[in-house]
Amino acid sequence: MTVPGTDIEAAVRALRAGELVAFPTETVYGLGADAANASAVAELYRVKGRPHGHPVIVHVAPDADLERWVLGLPAYARALADACWPGPLTLVLPRRPGAIVDPVTGGRDTVGIRVPATPIAQELLRAFDGGVAAPSANRFGRVSPTTAAHVRADLGADVRVVLDAGPSAVGVESTIVDCTGPGPVILRHGTITAVDVARITGIEPGEQTDGATAAPGTLPSHYAPVARVQLVDRGAIAARATSTLATGVRVGLLALAADVPGGLPGGLVVLDPPADVDSYGRVLYERLREADSRDLAVLLVVAPPPEGIGLAVADRLRRASAPRP
Ligand code: TXA
Ligand code: MG
Repeated sequence: MTVPGTDIEAAVRALRAGELVAFPTETVYGLGADAANASAVAELYRVKGRPHGHPVIVHVAPDADLERWVLGLPAYARALADACWPGPLTLVLPRRPGAIVDPVTGGRDTVGIRVPATPIAQELLRAFDGGVAAPSANRFGRVSPTTAAHVRADLGADVRVVLDAGPSAVGVESTIVDCTGPGPVILRHGTITAVDVARITGIEPGEQTDGATAAPGTLPSHYAPVARVQLVDRGAIAARATSTLATGVRVGLLALAADVPGGLPGGLVVLDPPADVDSYGRVLYERLREADSRDLAVLLVVAPPPEGIGLAVADRLRRASAPRP
Protein backbone atom coordinates (compact mmCIF):
# COMPACT_ATOMS: atom_id res chain seq x y z
CA MET A 1 0.00 0.00 0.00
CA THR A 2 1.23 3.49 -0.77
CA VAL A 3 -0.01 6.43 1.23
CA PRO A 4 0.39 10.14 0.61
CA GLY A 5 3.58 11.63 2.02
CA THR A 6 1.66 13.32 4.81
CA ASP A 7 -0.03 10.18 6.09
CA ILE A 8 2.24 9.81 9.08
CA GLU A 9 -0.49 8.23 11.18
CA ALA A 10 -0.75 5.12 9.03
CA ALA A 11 3.01 4.75 9.18
CA VAL A 12 3.09 5.10 12.97
CA ARG A 13 0.27 2.54 13.31
CA ALA A 14 2.24 0.15 11.10
CA LEU A 15 5.43 0.59 13.15
CA ARG A 16 3.51 0.01 16.39
CA ALA A 17 1.98 -3.14 14.87
CA GLY A 18 5.47 -4.48 14.13
CA GLU A 19 5.21 -3.83 10.38
CA LEU A 20 7.76 -2.26 8.05
CA VAL A 21 7.57 1.31 6.79
CA ALA A 22 9.70 2.87 4.05
CA PHE A 23 10.43 6.54 4.58
CA PRO A 24 12.40 9.27 2.81
CA THR A 25 15.61 10.74 4.17
CA GLU A 26 17.94 13.30 2.61
CA THR A 27 20.44 10.52 1.83
CA VAL A 28 18.44 7.51 0.63
CA TYR A 29 15.07 5.95 1.50
CA GLY A 30 15.10 3.80 4.63
CA LEU A 31 13.22 0.59 5.46
CA GLY A 32 12.12 1.08 9.04
CA ALA A 33 11.08 -1.16 11.91
CA ASP A 34 10.50 -0.49 15.60
CA ALA A 35 14.02 -0.95 17.04
CA ALA A 36 12.54 -2.26 20.29
CA ASN A 37 10.40 -4.97 18.67
CA ALA A 38 12.24 -8.28 18.11
CA SER A 39 9.80 -9.73 15.57
CA ALA A 40 9.66 -6.47 13.59
CA VAL A 41 13.45 -6.41 13.40
CA ALA A 42 13.50 -10.10 12.37
CA GLU A 43 11.07 -9.25 9.56
CA LEU A 44 13.33 -6.32 8.58
CA TYR A 45 16.32 -8.64 8.19
CA ARG A 46 14.21 -11.13 6.24
CA VAL A 47 12.86 -8.57 3.76
CA LYS A 48 16.21 -6.85 3.38
CA GLY A 49 17.89 -10.23 2.85
CA ARG A 50 20.66 -8.99 5.09
CA PRO A 51 23.00 -11.45 6.79
CA HIS A 52 22.70 -11.40 10.57
CA GLY A 53 25.50 -9.62 12.37
CA HIS A 54 25.29 -6.61 10.04
CA PRO A 55 24.11 -3.83 12.34
CA VAL A 56 21.36 -1.40 11.36
CA ILE A 57 21.24 2.35 12.04
CA VAL A 58 18.70 3.61 14.59
CA HIS A 59 16.91 6.79 13.48
CA VAL A 60 15.66 9.20 16.12
CA ALA A 61 13.86 12.56 16.21
CA PRO A 62 15.87 15.81 16.53
CA ASP A 63 14.59 16.54 20.04
CA ALA A 64 14.91 12.96 21.30
CA ASP A 65 16.88 12.29 24.48
CA LEU A 66 19.91 10.31 23.28
CA GLU A 67 20.48 8.90 26.76
CA ARG A 68 17.58 6.58 26.02
CA TRP A 69 19.77 4.63 23.60
CA VAL A 70 23.39 5.47 24.41
CA LEU A 71 25.68 5.58 27.43
CA GLY A 72 26.85 9.16 26.97
CA LEU A 73 28.71 11.00 24.22
CA PRO A 74 32.36 12.08 24.27
CA ALA A 75 32.79 15.84 23.76
CA TYR A 76 33.87 15.43 20.13
CA ALA A 77 30.72 13.38 19.38
CA ARG A 78 28.58 16.04 21.00
CA ALA A 79 30.28 18.63 18.77
CA LEU A 80 29.49 16.53 15.67
CA ALA A 81 25.88 16.05 16.72
CA ASP A 82 25.44 19.77 17.41
CA ALA A 83 27.01 20.78 14.09
CA CYS A 84 25.53 18.15 11.77
CA TRP A 85 22.17 16.95 13.14
CA PRO A 86 19.65 16.82 11.70
CA GLY A 87 21.68 15.70 8.72
CA PRO A 88 23.56 12.99 6.84
CA LEU A 89 25.71 11.80 9.74
CA THR A 90 25.57 8.57 11.76
CA LEU A 91 27.38 8.37 15.09
CA VAL A 92 28.40 4.99 16.49
CA LEU A 93 28.16 5.24 20.28
CA PRO A 94 28.23 2.95 23.32
CA ARG A 95 24.83 1.33 23.49
CA ARG A 96 22.55 1.48 26.52
CA PRO A 97 21.56 -2.14 27.22
CA GLY A 98 17.87 -2.99 26.83
CA ALA A 99 16.70 0.01 24.79
CA ILE A 100 16.78 -1.80 21.47
CA VAL A 101 16.76 -5.49 20.60
CA ASP A 102 20.15 -7.15 20.05
CA PRO A 103 19.87 -7.96 16.31
CA VAL A 104 19.68 -4.21 15.54
CA THR A 105 23.31 -3.86 16.54
CA GLY A 106 24.38 -7.29 15.35
CA GLY A 107 24.90 -8.14 19.01
CA ARG A 108 27.47 -5.35 19.45
CA ASP A 109 27.71 -3.11 22.49
CA THR A 110 27.58 -0.06 20.21
CA VAL A 111 24.73 1.49 18.25
CA GLY A 112 24.67 3.71 15.17
CA ILE A 113 22.36 6.72 15.70
CA ARG A 114 21.19 9.16 13.06
CA VAL A 115 18.83 12.18 13.06
CA PRO A 116 17.61 12.61 9.47
CA ALA A 117 16.86 16.06 8.06
CA THR A 118 13.86 15.31 5.83
CA PRO A 119 10.74 16.82 7.49
CA ILE A 120 8.54 13.75 6.84
CA ALA A 121 11.14 11.50 8.46
CA GLN A 122 11.25 13.81 11.48
CA GLU A 123 7.46 13.89 11.75
CA LEU A 124 7.37 10.11 11.63
CA LEU A 125 10.06 9.77 14.31
CA ARG A 126 8.43 12.37 16.56
CA ALA A 127 5.00 10.81 16.26
CA PHE A 128 6.37 7.30 16.80
CA ASP A 129 8.38 8.51 19.80
CA GLY A 130 10.95 5.72 19.61
CA GLY A 131 13.96 4.52 17.67
CA VAL A 132 13.40 3.28 14.11
CA ALA A 133 15.93 0.72 12.91
CA ALA A 134 16.39 1.33 9.19
CA PRO A 135 18.83 0.16 6.55
CA SER A 136 18.52 1.54 3.04
CA ALA A 137 15.25 0.25 1.52
CA ASN A 138 16.84 -2.02 -1.10
CA ARG A 139 17.54 -5.76 -1.09
CA PHE A 140 20.96 -6.58 0.32
CA GLY A 141 23.92 -5.73 -1.93
CA ARG A 142 21.80 -3.89 -4.50
CA VAL A 143 21.55 -0.21 -5.41
CA SER A 144 20.13 2.09 -2.70
CA PRO A 145 16.77 3.78 -3.41
CA THR A 146 16.51 7.55 -3.76
CA THR A 147 12.82 7.66 -4.72
CA ALA A 148 9.64 5.97 -3.49
CA ALA A 149 9.35 4.31 -6.90
CA HIS A 150 12.75 2.64 -6.40
CA VAL A 151 11.53 1.28 -3.06
CA ARG A 152 8.36 -0.16 -4.58
CA ALA A 153 10.30 -1.67 -7.47
CA ASP A 154 12.67 -3.43 -5.04
CA LEU A 155 10.45 -4.40 -2.14
CA GLY A 156 6.95 -4.49 -3.61
CA ALA A 157 4.39 -6.02 -1.27
CA ASP A 158 6.99 -6.67 1.44
CA VAL A 159 6.60 -3.15 2.79
CA ARG A 160 3.32 -2.00 4.33
CA VAL A 161 3.65 1.75 3.88
CA VAL A 162 5.89 3.84 1.61
CA LEU A 163 6.09 7.52 2.56
CA ASP A 164 7.03 9.65 -0.43
CA ALA A 165 8.89 12.97 -0.32
CA GLY A 166 10.28 12.95 -3.84
CA PRO A 167 13.93 12.33 -4.75
CA SER A 168 16.50 12.39 -1.92
CA ALA A 169 18.42 15.68 -1.79
CA VAL A 170 21.87 14.21 -1.09
CA GLY A 171 21.53 10.82 -2.77
CA VAL A 172 24.43 9.01 -1.05
CA GLU A 173 24.29 7.32 2.38
CA SER A 174 25.28 9.13 5.57
CA THR A 175 28.84 9.52 6.77
CA ILE A 176 29.40 7.07 9.64
CA VAL A 177 31.73 8.12 12.45
CA ASP A 178 32.77 5.77 15.23
CA CYS A 179 32.72 7.74 18.47
CA THR A 180 33.59 4.94 20.90
CA GLY A 181 37.31 5.71 21.13
CA PRO A 182 39.46 8.69 22.09
CA GLY A 183 38.84 10.40 18.72
CA PRO A 184 36.51 10.14 15.71
CA VAL A 185 37.05 7.35 13.17
CA ILE A 186 35.29 7.48 9.81
CA LEU A 187 33.68 4.13 8.97
CA ARG A 188 31.84 5.19 5.80
CA HIS A 189 32.35 8.20 3.54
CA GLY A 190 29.44 10.54 2.93
CA THR A 191 28.76 14.16 2.24
CA ILE A 192 30.22 15.17 5.61
CA THR A 193 33.93 14.66 4.95
CA ALA A 194 37.04 14.02 7.05
CA VAL A 195 37.87 17.70 6.56
CA ASP A 196 34.48 18.66 8.07
CA VAL A 197 34.98 16.26 10.98
CA ALA A 198 38.45 17.69 11.70
CA ARG A 199 37.13 21.25 11.55
CA ILE A 200 34.16 20.51 13.84
CA THR A 201 35.98 18.43 16.45
CA GLY A 202 39.49 19.85 16.26
CA ILE A 203 40.72 16.26 15.93
CA GLU A 204 42.10 14.66 12.76
CA PRO A 205 39.78 11.65 12.29
CA GLY A 206 41.01 8.13 11.73
CA GLU A 207 39.63 6.13 8.85
CA GLN A 208 38.53 2.53 8.70
CA THR A 209 36.28 2.21 5.70
CA ASP A 210 37.22 -1.28 4.60
CA GLY A 211 37.23 -4.66 6.23
CA ALA A 212 34.82 -6.53 8.42
CA THR A 213 35.79 -4.80 11.65
CA ALA A 214 34.50 -1.29 11.03
CA ALA A 215 31.10 -1.11 9.40
CA PRO A 216 30.28 -4.65 8.30
CA GLY A 217 27.82 -3.37 5.69
CA THR A 218 30.61 -1.67 3.78
CA LEU A 219 31.55 -4.79 1.86
CA PRO A 220 33.98 -4.47 -1.06
CA SER A 221 31.25 -5.46 -3.54
CA HIS A 222 28.09 -3.45 -2.84
CA TYR A 223 25.74 -0.86 -4.32
CA ALA A 224 25.95 -2.77 -7.58
CA PRO A 225 23.56 -2.83 -10.53
CA VAL A 226 23.33 -5.92 -12.75
CA ALA A 227 25.38 -4.13 -15.41
CA ARG A 228 29.12 -4.52 -14.88
CA VAL A 229 30.54 -1.21 -13.66
CA GLN A 230 34.02 -0.36 -14.95
CA LEU A 231 35.92 2.70 -13.77
CA VAL A 232 37.83 4.49 -16.54
CA ASP A 233 39.89 7.65 -16.82
CA ARG A 234 38.44 10.41 -18.96
CA GLY A 235 41.17 10.01 -21.57
CA ALA A 236 40.49 6.28 -21.97
CA ILE A 237 36.70 6.41 -22.53
CA ALA A 238 36.68 6.33 -26.34
CA ALA A 239 39.13 3.44 -26.67
CA ARG A 240 37.45 1.38 -23.94
CA ALA A 241 33.98 2.04 -25.38
CA THR A 242 35.12 1.00 -28.83
CA SER A 243 36.79 -2.21 -27.66
CA THR A 244 33.86 -3.18 -25.42
CA LEU A 245 31.26 -2.44 -28.10
CA ALA A 246 33.29 -4.64 -30.45
CA THR A 247 32.48 -7.64 -28.22
CA GLY A 248 28.82 -7.18 -29.19
CA VAL A 249 27.38 -6.01 -25.86
CA ARG A 250 25.46 -2.85 -24.91
CA VAL A 251 27.73 -0.27 -23.28
CA GLY A 252 26.89 2.95 -21.39
CA LEU A 253 28.81 5.87 -19.93
CA LEU A 254 28.34 7.84 -16.70
CA ALA A 255 30.54 10.89 -16.19
CA LEU A 256 30.37 14.56 -15.24
CA ALA A 257 29.30 16.69 -18.21
CA ALA A 258 32.80 18.17 -18.30
CA ASP A 259 34.27 14.66 -18.56
CA VAL A 260 32.23 13.54 -21.58
CA PRO A 261 34.52 14.05 -24.56
CA GLY A 262 33.41 14.59 -28.14
CA GLY A 263 33.88 11.95 -30.83
CA LEU A 264 32.56 8.96 -28.88
CA PRO A 265 31.45 5.85 -30.79
CA GLY A 266 27.81 6.02 -31.92
CA GLY A 267 26.70 2.84 -30.14
CA LEU A 268 27.69 4.15 -26.71
CA VAL A 269 24.70 5.02 -24.47
CA VAL A 270 25.67 8.25 -22.71
CA LEU A 271 23.55 8.57 -19.54
CA ASP A 272 22.41 12.14 -18.79
CA PRO A 273 25.64 13.58 -17.30
CA PRO A 274 25.52 15.40 -13.94
CA ALA A 275 26.70 19.03 -14.15
CA ASP A 276 28.64 19.09 -10.88
CA VAL A 277 29.79 16.91 -8.00
CA ASP A 278 26.69 17.48 -5.85
CA SER A 279 24.38 16.49 -8.71
CA TYR A 280 26.57 13.45 -9.28
CA GLY A 281 25.75 12.39 -5.70
CA ARG A 282 22.05 13.06 -6.21
CA VAL A 283 21.70 11.06 -9.43
CA LEU A 284 24.31 8.32 -8.89
CA TYR A 285 21.91 5.54 -7.84
CA GLU A 286 19.25 6.63 -10.33
CA ARG A 287 21.80 6.27 -13.15
CA LEU A 288 23.01 2.87 -11.89
CA ARG A 289 19.38 1.70 -12.01
CA GLU A 290 19.01 3.21 -15.45
CA ALA A 291 21.96 1.11 -16.62
CA ASP A 292 19.82 -1.93 -15.85
CA SER A 293 16.53 -0.59 -17.18
CA ARG A 294 18.34 0.23 -20.44
CA ASP A 295 19.75 -3.26 -20.47
CA LEU A 296 23.41 -2.29 -20.51
CA ALA A 297 25.92 -5.11 -20.05
CA VAL A 298 28.73 -2.71 -19.17
CA LEU A 299 28.63 0.77 -17.65
CA LEU A 300 31.83 2.77 -18.05
CA VAL A 301 32.14 5.32 -15.26
CA VAL A 302 34.43 8.29 -14.73
CA ALA A 303 34.56 9.08 -11.00
CA PRO A 304 34.14 12.73 -9.96
CA PRO A 305 37.04 14.64 -8.41
CA PRO A 306 37.61 13.60 -4.77
CA GLU A 307 36.23 16.81 -3.25
CA GLY A 308 33.23 17.09 -0.93
CA ILE A 309 30.68 14.44 -1.79
CA GLY A 310 32.91 13.38 -4.70
CA LEU A 311 34.85 11.21 -2.23
CA ALA A 312 31.72 9.32 -1.22
CA VAL A 313 30.61 8.96 -4.85
CA ALA A 314 34.04 7.57 -5.79
CA ASP A 315 33.84 5.18 -2.83
CA ARG A 316 30.43 3.83 -3.92
CA LEU A 317 31.65 3.50 -7.52
CA ARG A 318 34.69 1.55 -6.38
CA ARG A 319 32.41 -0.87 -4.53
CA ALA A 320 29.95 -1.06 -7.41
CA SER A 321 32.84 -2.01 -9.69
CA ALA A 322 34.43 -4.54 -7.33
CA PRO A 323 34.46 -8.22 -8.40
CA ARG A 324 31.16 -9.91 -7.46
CA PRO A 325 31.30 -12.74 -4.95
O1 TXA B 1 22.09 7.39 5.00
C1 TXA B 1 21.98 6.35 5.65
O2 TXA B 1 22.75 6.05 6.57
C2 TXA B 1 20.81 5.42 5.27
C3 TXA B 1 19.51 6.10 5.65
C4 TXA B 1 18.30 5.20 5.46
O3 TXA B 1 19.59 6.56 6.97
N1 TXA B 1 20.95 4.14 5.91
C5 TXA B 1 21.88 3.23 5.55
O4 TXA B 1 21.77 2.05 6.23
O5 TXA B 1 22.70 3.42 4.69
P1 TXA B 1 22.52 0.69 5.81
O6 TXA B 1 21.96 -0.34 6.71
O7 TXA B 1 22.35 0.45 4.36
O8 TXA B 1 23.98 0.94 6.22
C6 TXA B 1 24.27 1.00 7.59
C7 TXA B 1 25.74 0.95 7.83
C8 TXA B 1 26.32 -0.43 7.63
O9 TXA B 1 27.56 -0.32 6.97
C9 TXA B 1 26.49 -0.94 9.06
O10 TXA B 1 27.49 -1.90 9.15
C10 TXA B 1 26.85 0.36 9.76
O11 TXA B 1 25.97 1.28 9.19
N2 TXA B 1 26.56 0.32 11.20
C11 TXA B 1 25.37 0.39 11.81
N3 TXA B 1 25.49 0.26 13.15
C12 TXA B 1 26.80 0.10 13.39
C13 TXA B 1 27.59 -0.13 14.57
N4 TXA B 1 27.04 -0.21 15.79
N5 TXA B 1 28.92 -0.26 14.42
C14 TXA B 1 29.51 -0.20 13.20
N6 TXA B 1 28.81 -0.01 12.06
C15 TXA B 1 27.49 0.13 12.15
MG1 MG C 1 22.61 0.06 2.33
